[in-house]
Amino acid sequence: LYDFYEELRNTDELFWDRHLSAWIATGHGVVSSATGNPALSSVRYPDLDAVSEELRPLARVLSRQMLYSDAPDHSRLRGLISKAFSPRAVETLRARILEAVDRIIDEAAPTGRMDIVAELARPLPLTIICDLLDVPQEDRPALTAWSEPIAEAMGNSRLDADRNREASQSMADMLAYFRGLLTGPETPPAPDSLRALVTAQAESTDQDPDELLANCALLLIAGHETTTHFIGNATLALLRHPHAAEQLRKRPDLLPAAVEELLRYDAPVQLMLRRARHDLDLAGRSIAEGQTVLLVCGAANRDPAVFPDPHVLDFERPGGRHMSFGHGPHFCLGAALARLEGTIVLEALLTRLPDLSLDTTEPLKWQRSLNFRGLTRLDVAFT
Ligand code: HEM
Repeated sequence: LYDFYEELRNTDELFWDRHLSAWIATGHGVVSSATGNPALSSVRYPDLDAVSEELRPLARVLSRQMLYSDAPDHSRLRGLISKAFSPRAVETLRARILEAVDRIIDEAAPTGRMDIVAELARPLPLTIICDLLDVPQEDRPALTAWSEPIAEAMGNSRLDADRNREASQSMADMLAYFRGLLTGPETPPAPDSLRALVTAQAESTDQDPDELLANCALLLIAGHETTTHFIGNATLALLRHPHAAEQLRKRPDLLPAAVEELLRYDAPVQLMLRRARHDLDLAGRSIAEGQTVLLVCGAANRDPAVFPDPHVLDFERPGGRHMSFGHGPHFCLGAALARLEGTIVLEALLTRLPDLSLDTTEPLKWQRSLNFRGLTRLDVAFT
């Protein structure tokens, strides 16, 4: 993948691809400037009538999420829940994350084997986001089942009609569930919890409840698949670079830098999509109104102009800002949470399972997706 990106970037860091009917941006400079360019819109479905009938119900909900909105709607929607994701608010989750990671490792320990994706990377982010939203334990499997087809449809614009229909239905089910949770007779939410914040917003007369529910669903989907892939990709990178893992064991002070470098090295989200609001000039190219621009964060992260020796995993790499959480107004709202989860997982794996190794009896399998990059399983062994 990364060799392919390099070839593309060496040809041109912004070019028109006639098969995809889109501009492809691979240079770090273009990707970072495009994310803050107000002439490039994040609205994914500018004309809902043009969307296929099966996908339309899902597209209608997605259009109300901050991720697919522009200012001023975007800042208003982000403002509704951003308080719950500040680094300070997220820090209060540390003990909960530590406890969840320890429990997962305790359960796997006697067997000496583990599928990191199925047993750790997949359940952990969901547990934390469900804890935040105060979702009862027994309802969590249903939320996982709904979020998978939705994430699949968000990551692949060429799904067949049945899969799109399933994704639309899953979104309807998820919204109905959140509606019940916020207005239902369950125990009141803990003060200062995200559910308390959302419930208070839902009770406010000038807030459209459907808009709020759509953004609750976004938290679940955006916070789940991405962090799962981060944990899987980062663990794989450490298993393939035992010297780097050893360095971290000796120098735990490098852990925050290692988390950033692992995010750069193999980004869980490879692409961001924008559409030209009007004709514009971008890096010397003329982009016409309505044209799509794909910002390839995975390629920007390996741009040698910003990251010398970009294919080397280097925890002491100076400067350079990776694009894995995006940039500009849509910069990932859950970045602090994802960083905390990643740090705790890596620390636990390095210290509790120091001889962790890749179980090569099972071949690596990558998820088929245009914008998400992650493993479907990662088998490891340890004593
Ligand atoms: C936005 C990546 C974890 C919630 C984004 C964007 C990226 C991203 C690239 C920008 C998309 C764009 O500009 O088009 C990631 C990665 C994660 C992660 C790589 C894990 C390592 C999380 C978590 C949450 C979350 C844990 C919440 C619980 C969001 C939200 C947005 C967003 C709500 C939309 C922000 C906006 O539109 O203003 N994320 N994310 N993400 N992320 Fe994350």
